[in-house]
Amino acid sequence: MNTNRFICGDAVVSMRKFPAESVDLIIADPPYNLGKDYGNNLDLKARREYEEFTKTWLAEAVRLLKPSGTIYVFMGVRFISRLFLMMEEEFNLVFNGWITWHYTQGMGRKVGFSPRHEDILYFTKSEVFVFNLDDVRIPQKYYRKRNNMTGANPGDVWQFSHVHYCSAERESHPTQKPEALIERMIRASSNEGDLTLDPFVGSGTTCRVAEALRRKWVGIDLNPKYVEMSERRIREKSTLFDSVDPRVARTPRDLPKEEQADEVENRPAQPALPQGF
Ligand SMILES: C[S@@+](CC[C@H](N)C(=O)[O-])C[C@H]1O[C@@H](n2cnc3c(N)ncnc32)[C@H](O)[C@@H]1O
Repeated sequence: MNTNRFICGDAVVSMRKFPAESVDLIIADPPYNLGKDYGNNLDLKARREYEEFTKTWLAEAVRLLKPSGTIYVFMGVRFISRLFLMMEEEFNLVFNGWITWHYTQGMGRKVGFSPRHEDILYFTKSEVFVFNLDDVRIPQKYYRKRNNMTGANPGDVWQFSHVHYCSAERESHPTQKPEALIERMIRASSNEGDLTLDPFVGSGTTCRVAEALRRKWVGIDLNPKYVEMSERRIREKSTLFDSVDPRVARTPRDLPKEEQADEVENRPAQPALPQGF
């Protein structure tokens, strides 16, 4: 299978051409059916039609996953409970986590609470799957002998800021995801050389991060403008991912002052980005 390329086309039609059980990791960020402008009027379907669309692309995604494969699906709150049942009951995937992506800034509401999260469903195809915890640990909150002081499991509430409109990395795409958020998924759920597929690649975030982490990748999008954007982004060099989990800067709270300084100095480095990225 040809990898490290973008395909301009419909996700289902394109995925049907791939061999079964050929993909290690799928990161899918489909339109949430909220009427976003992706250059067409496809993001406002009747509920039943959206369910059908979801089932059709999910069926293909499941066919492509290797038995040891993992799938993460982003979804808005209005449809996530339906999606969860579909993945668990209709596609018999193995539930591994319901991740909440929490952000501190966003649209404000005058009546009702302002939305400050999106969710990500994390499923595997079987009970045997890759999970590289050591590659995604964050510093512990407290010093305890029994704690693993190389770092804690990041948990299932992830805090990454949006890619702000004023940020240098911001692309002209309405739902660009932070690279660091995708980095956590790819590091945790794949190894170097594994194939990552993003069937709704948008501005190309997943593929850009996969390339930097030496994974193989394929990205699909219906809109030729976004495919061009993704192709440009993959060629651009960068030194850092565009968002950080603020907890990586913390030191265990209950260390005496001199040990805190020591801890910062001796903290194991985060896994390094490949040279030149
Ligand atoms: C939520 S956005 C993905 C954003 C992406 N994760 C990023 O970081 O930029 C969904 C994307 O799916 C694309 N899309 C919508 N329907 C599609 C379809 N049937 N096949 C392929 N792509 C589609 C849209 O053009 C849009 O760019």
